Amino acid sequence: MQTTATATDLVRRDERAIANALKIRYTPFVVGEGEGGRLFDVDGRPYLDFGAAWALAGLGYNNEQVRSAVKAELGRTTFGGLISGINRPAIELAERLIDLVPGDWEKKVWYGLSGSDASEAAMRLLPQATGRNRLVSFIGSWHGTHDGTMGLSAHPSLTGVIAGANVIKAPYPDPYHPPFLGGTENLTDQCLHYLEHYLFRTICEPRDVAAIFVEAVQSDGGDVVPPRISCQSCGLSVIATASCSRSTRSRLGLPARARCLRTNMAPSRPTSSCSANHSAAGCH
Ligand SMILES: Cc1ncc(COP(=O)(O)O)c(C=O)c1O
Repeated sequence: MQTTATATDLVRRDERAIANALKIRYTPFVVGEGEGGRLFDVDGRPYLDFGAAWALAGLGYNNEQVRSAVKAELGRTTFGGLISGINRPAIELAERLIDLVPGDWEKKVWYGLSGSDASEAAMRLLPQATGRNRLVSFIGSWHGTHDGTMGLSAHPSLTGVIAGANVIKAPYPDPYHPPFLGGTENLTDQCLHYLEHYLFRTICEPRDVAAIFVEAVQSDGGDVVPPRISCQSCGLSVIATASCSRSTRSRLGLPARARCLRTNMAPSRPTSSCSANHSAAGCH
């Protein structure tokens, strides 16, 4: 069945054919093409794009350098499997990602196919590397759509999924939906106090916690920039996830021990990564 590709038509067909579970839609925008900082819908209407593909299109759409690099690589081979082969571009990218993660310990990179993959690798590797079983994440967070990462997330659209028995979910300093009574002035301190002096002293001892997963700016949770976080290290790993992770060091006041990044570049190539210290990224 082929019909005219107008926005109205595609909205209707999308409603019928695409699973609702995949949708967090703010507008019925039907993407046609992108150029630089602009998107055009299928009817050719231009939009100035402040979404930047959930911050994954930092170089703009149709970037010539990105396109030719992908084209050149696909021209060489469509085989890139690291399980059975050694692959020069993968090594070179890993070396550059390692340079991006702060800290002068030895690190390795794990590649995945999606952001969910990267978060799930971190949530599997960290407990193995530390011998600690619990993880902490924040209410409103979105770490992915795999079984494990849905349990790690605490986004309202995922609360139907009962998973993550080892995950403690702490309140996030969201000034638009403050979790505590009494204004938002001391929201960050209140949230950290609740974590440190209540959760850590009652149901979740820090010595059992392998890592805290945090989006420095919650994105799917509503682009929530927390007032300010200054966290003291208590021997825990902080996992900075996705596109907002660059600012984690300054917002948290301590370096992330592992970093998950994702990109929406191309199918059949690694599109996410988790860079962590040797013992975490190297454990089997
Ligand atoms: C912080 C964060 N982690 C993980 C993911 C999941 O990434 P993907 O949709 O590529 O699996 C997202 C997606 O929005 C995200 O915002």
